[in-house]
Amino acid sequence: MISHRGTRLFGAVVFFAIFLLILSSTPSTPPSLRNVTNKAGAYVPNNLPKLSDLPNLPNIDSFRLPFHTPTHKPPEQKNSTSGESKWYSDWKWLNPFSSSVTLDENRSVLPPLPPRPSVFTYYNLAGKQKGEAEADRQLLLTWRRAWWAKGFRPVVLGPAEAENNGIYQAVKAKGLSPELEMDFMKWLAWGSVDSGILADWQLFPMADYDDKLITSLRRGTDPQFITRLENMGAVLFSGERGRVNDAIKAALDRNNLKDARSIVDVVPDDFFRVVEKPKSFANYDLNTVIARYAPIAEKINENPAVGKLALVDLINLHLQITFQNTFSSGISVMKPFPENTTVLVNPGVKLAKLITQCAPAMLQTSCPPNNPSCIPCTRKNSLRIIHPGGYINNSAVYTIGILPHPYTLLSVNKGSDNVTLPYIRRESTRDNWLVESTKNLLGNRLDGSSRVVPFKSIVAGDFGMSRSLWFTVESFPTNPKDTALPPEIIDDLDWHFGFRIPRETPHGKDESQKPLMDDFPGGDEEKIKAEFELIGKAREVLKGERPEDKSIREISEAWNLADTEAWRFVRAFRARSVVERKKWEEEEKAFVGS
Ligand SMILES: *[C@@H]1O[C@H](CO)[C@@H](O)[C@H](O)[C@H]1NC(C)=O
Ligand SMILES: *[C@@H]1O[C@H](CO)[C@@H](O)[C@H](O)[C@H]1NC(C)=O
Ligand SMILES: *[C@@H]1O[C@H](CO)[C@@H](O)[C@H](O)[C@H]1NC(C)=O
Ligand SMILES: *[C@@H]1O[C@H](CO)[C@@H](O)[C@H](O)[C@H]1NC(C)=O
Ligand SMILES: *[C@@H]1O[C@H](CO)[C@@H](O)[C@H](O)[C@H]1NC(C)=O
Ligand SMILES: *[C@@H]1O[C@H](CO)[C@@H](O)[C@H](O)[C@H]1NC(C)=O
Repeated sequence: MISHRGTRLFGAVVFFAIFLLILSSTPSTPPSLRNVTNKAGAYVPNNLPKLSDLPNLPNIDSFRLPFHTPTHKPPEQKNSTSGESKWYSDWKWLNPFSSSVTLDENRSVLPPLPPRPSVFTYYNLAGKQKGEAEADRQLLLTWRRAWWAKGFRPVVLGPAEAENNGIYQAVKAKGLSPELEMDFMKWLAWGSVDSGILADWQLFPMADYDDKLITSLRRGTDPQFITRLENMGAVLFSGERGRVNDAIKAALDRNNLKDARSIVDVVPDDFFRVVEKPKSFANYDLNTVIARYAPIAEKINENPAVGKLALVDLINLHLQITFQNTFSSGISVMKPFPENTTVLVNPGVKLAKLITQCAPAMLQTSCPPNNPSCIPCTRKNSLRIIHPGGYINNSAVYTIGILPHPYTLLSVNKGSDNVTLPYIRRESTRDNWLVESTKNLLGNRLDGSSRVVPFKSIVAGDFGMSRSLWFTVESFPTNPKDTALPPEIIDDLDWHFGFRIPRETPHGKDESQKPLMDDFPGGDEEKIKAEFELIGKAREVLKGERPEDKSIREISEAWNLADTEAWRFVRAFRARSVVERKKWEEEEKAFVGS
């Protein structure tokens, strides 16, 4: 047992050691926090959005005033912790070091969550058999997932919302044709809840995240007009709630109500702004399915429950194909220090393998209706998985990055768990991971701290966010007996990608029954096992409460300030995205299809 004095002595030694670390800095030292704080104003992004675009910003002055060193910790925001990570969402996120804003080394500054505009759909359960209702539920789930992944907030509405609209009785009194009345019900429901998008539940965003039309819908809607798509009928509208209700009232005054079939024919044209030649959406209404996917239409005709489930699989496959076609140059699972990080990046490799598989469906080689010349998912044109030493900035490459804690990296690169202060000081270079993985992007000359800002913008900036996915090594279990990805992680990633990720590997074997070396073909079994052991031990040190664990952890973090910052940032960014979705799911429980 260590006595009090012993602990204090130990603490003093650690303090002195860290002090020495800082004193002994070479020109490539990360700047001290003070230095960073002084110039932090420079890192407020200069493309700040217009004030009017900012959602729920409590205090506009907080980012307009020139940046100054905070003297108080910023207030805690709602739902801003998860496990060990804490975050603070703010426009000052591109500071190299979060602690200069949060005054808490464990609290990362993340970019504000982009606002998610609502996309509503109208679904009426009435008159459906049990099996068909269940198939519809799957379809709605697929629909919600697809829209969520594109940055929207999908909400399923029903007759209750339509009846809530004050104009409901006036519509009912008109005695409209069933098709037209159905259109009116959708608009009434939409007009009774909120501004946003109204989309058919058979309409799927079938393009990349940065697609022009999808981006413009995400930005919101012109309050003057209701946006609709040319030649696609009444499948998608975007508008403000007041405008929608005005349009319903104006339509009710028209004298062509008796013959009209669609709401587009009765709402006066000057309400609409028409998007020409829309290519970003795929409509799986019955006519399209009959025309293009006849075998599935036949199935639906025979047995709606079975047929619709086949349609769900088909749509899911098409969503996956759209992802694969967007990133046609392959999936990059970054692997700096390749001789020592095979086990470390293995969860990324597993994920990449799942994503590049083809989900089973009827009409396996078909294309989405909006993109008949797609490259179908077949074994022959399966996406490449590459392992570059660093980040590749190419819009046709999807990156999966797995970041080790500095201590973990030190340990695998030393090939031993005997990582000591002298070793760190004399034999390791600072911020190894960040320097190595951004070398081909930023060259060899910058030090770690100058790489933090570009790295953060790859993880969370507009360009990088939809083209990469980042985890910490420590967020995955490390078990040589069972290397399968945890189901809760894959379940969550379904929502990130917008399609259901195939769960089976090509071998079709149960993951946990597989021999270890199936995962590492051509690897050296001894070395792989040793790496597993080192990562496992490192994890214990990182969680450890013993003073020697704490001290070596602090020393490795102090020596690698930039790597640590990047690691915490990634941990918080991933955690926040999981919390965002869970919170939304809680709120959506009341709605159909969740
Ligand atoms: C900040 O660090 C730079 C080197 O990165 C140095 O040139 C400069 O003098 C430092 N400024 C202060 C205020 O310490
Ligand atoms: C940050 O977290 C580590 C590990 O969880 C802990 O040891 C340390 O005391 C924390 N620092 C602060 C300032 O809370
Ligand atoms: C990557 O490339 C895109 C355009 O090709 C550019 O806008 C972006 O800034 C680049 N990202 C980095 C980190 O260099
Ligand atoms: C990889 O680990 C070995 C020890 O197992 C070490 O000698 C080598 O330098 C390490 N490679 C790198 C790039 O650090
Ligand atoms: C750990 O490494 C140091 C040298 O860096 C050595 O003196 C010490 O004996 C080693 N300890 C163990 C348990 O191997
Ligand atoms: C969000 O916060 C509320 C109350 O603070 C809590 O009840 C809820 O469980 C949190 N949700 C998540 C997903 O953490």
